[in-house]
Amino acid sequence: MSVGELPDPAANGYRDTWCGRVLPERVEDEVRVAGWVNRRRDHGGLIFIDLRDRTGVVQLVFHPDRSAAAFELAHKLRPEDVLSASGKVVRRDAETVNPALPTGEVEIAVGAADLLADSETPPFQIEGYADEVGEDTRLRYRYLDLRREQMREALLLRHRVTAAMREFLGAEGFVDVETPVLTRSTPEGARDFLVPSRQQQGSFYALPQSPQLFKQLLMVSGFERYFQIARCFRDEATRADRQPEFTQLDVEMSFVEADDVIALNERMLAHVFAAVGGPTIEAPMQRMAYAESMERFGTDRPDLRFGLELVDLGAALAGTEFKVFKSVLDGGGSIRGINAGKREVPRSELDGFISRAQELGAKGLVWAFREGDGWRSPTAKFLSEAELAELNRLLGAEEGDLLLLVADKRPVTDAVLGQMRLDLGERFGLVDEAENRLVWIVDFPLFAYDEVEKRFDAVHHPFTAPQEGWDPSDPGSALSQAYDVVWNGQELGGGSIRIHSAAVQQQVFAALGIDAETAEARFGFLLEALRFGAPPHGGIAYGIDRFVQRLAGAETIRDVIAFPKTASGFDLLTGAPAPVDEPQLRELGVAIHKRGKAGH
Ligand code: AMO
Ligand code: AMP
Repeated sequence: MSVGELPDPAANGYRDTWCGRVLPERVEDEVRVAGWVNRRRDHGGLIFIDLRDRTGVVQLVFHPDRSAAAFELAHKLRPEDVLSASGKVVRRDAETVNPALPTGEVEIAVGAADLLADSETPPFQIEGYADEVGEDTRLRYRYLDLRREQMREALLLRHRVTAAMREFLGAEGFVDVETPVLTRSTPEGARDFLVPSRQQQGSFYALPQSPQLFKQLLMVSGFERYFQIARCFRDEATRADRQPEFTQLDVEMSFVEADDVIALNERMLAHVFAAVGGPTIEAPMQRMAYAESMERFGTDRPDLRFGLELVDLGAALAGTEFKVFKSVLDGGGSIRGINAGKREVPRSELDGFISRAQELGAKGLVWAFREGDGWRSPTAKFLSEAELAELNRLLGAEEGDLLLLVADKRPVTDAVLGQMRLDLGERFGLVDEAENRLVWIVDFPLFAYDEVEKRFDAVHHPFTAPQEGWDPSDPGSALSQAYDVVWNGQELGGGSIRIHSAAVQQQVFAALGIDAETAEARFGFLLEALRFGAPPHGGIAYGIDRFVQRLAGAETIRDVIAFPKTASGFDLLTGAPAPVDEPQLRELGVAIHKRGKAGH
């Protein structure tokens, strides 16, 4: 029996088998089933009820001759009433066989039935439900939404995924250790959720953005191999693949190098995917340096299922007179382009590409079709024949190919064209949905310069180890020992080898502009622990919600979370977050600063 499958129920007054197990082999048997009324059809002399439980649906047939009382009851049954019924399993007439149902060849001729609970008219139909019900209604009545097969399947899949993870890691000697939820802030780059302390008025716990620091402390403690399926909290804008609280598979190990962690994870992914029907993993998996990924795809989450790679075009335009390109190059920017292939696209759509590029942050977009040795494009007249020929060469453009170019600072050209590449892949149907491409992105920069704040930020988190031989006086050029695993363009997980020396940790804090005093105040416990014999260690964390979303082929991670929040962070079921009483606030020493008209 596989994980998540049900053993037969112990017989009791309610049932002795599952609805979905009333199969042809049970013909002539007396069975008792219990569940929810999925559908009722009244054929005058006969009433048919589809009864549903977790395993599926079975048809009950009520004859007045068989049991007048049960027939009477069947008349009154409405969708979602809860029923227990017993009777004999009989073969259906050939013309009433339902091949779509595993139980479709049989039905139960009901001898007795009990109404266990009745239901109000549900706000939406459970059976036959398509996508016409708004998500807000589904979330408001989530307990009904979860009765739907699609949601049940998603949660069962999620269970099988986490069970397979536990099974693999348990067999590898990883210990499941729980870490606190009421704690101090762990910097993973998002805003913290804060919890006011009643006993220490004016002080706050932060909910963990991840168990990062605790798992490192467990390595200092000598646990060697830790894992946890941990809830993480990040107060950031919710998107299709983000929730303010989400779940990580969090892993850490000691005396390892990046290759060891990656190898273990490839084995784990192979195990989990084999258990739940995911893609086949061939170890060693592909690896790609961050710089190469940015160069070719404009992102560190490349979707490798199709081409349309970004091309650097600066070399063709070094002496250009076209003022848009010239000013960008003179300002140290880049000109990059995509060859979208031979396409016929109306003018209105080309204008749409320009607006899309602007929406993504570009100042403009040049479109062109290769025609002869030059271009058909409003911009062609600004470029010399030699420039056009060289652009065509660099882009590998053939007759009729659609070319899109953006000039701007490198991060902008990457971001805009990286996203437009995905748009074009979808628009032109270039993605084979059956294909799966997993890749490790490695050799990340340790720091990224924040132009607005005028300081360096950690690309992963401040506890990520730099590569051998880094120069603390030149943070911009340091690479880290971090790795992300990317599946079809989505980041599934990421981790790193950590800093295990207090001195190096302090150098990294310094490069991040965290002075010794602040470091001591915020992370003193970590720095102290690192001075008591910290082993070399490293690990990884996966977003379980994303993992299951992708396996389930779900639109959003909300579809694989039992009780998720809306895009604006609301729990429509319970009504959280909600105002609290004045006395409760007083006890916490918290006063609400009423929003002014300006909204600050
Ligand atoms: P990181 O911040 O990359 O790493 O998170 C790891 C994985 O968690 C998932 N994830 C999310 N899923 C849903 N909603 C969110 N808001 C959200 N944010 C992140 C992603 C991501 O890859 N402590 C480090 C790991 C480590 O270094 O070991 C960490 O948390 O799938
Ligand atoms: P302009 O001189 O601003 O009218 O721009 C001339 C052409 O260049 C138009 O087609 C613009 O869409 C395009 N363009 C403007 N800025 C950029 C840019 N940063 N990158 C690519 N194309 C641009």
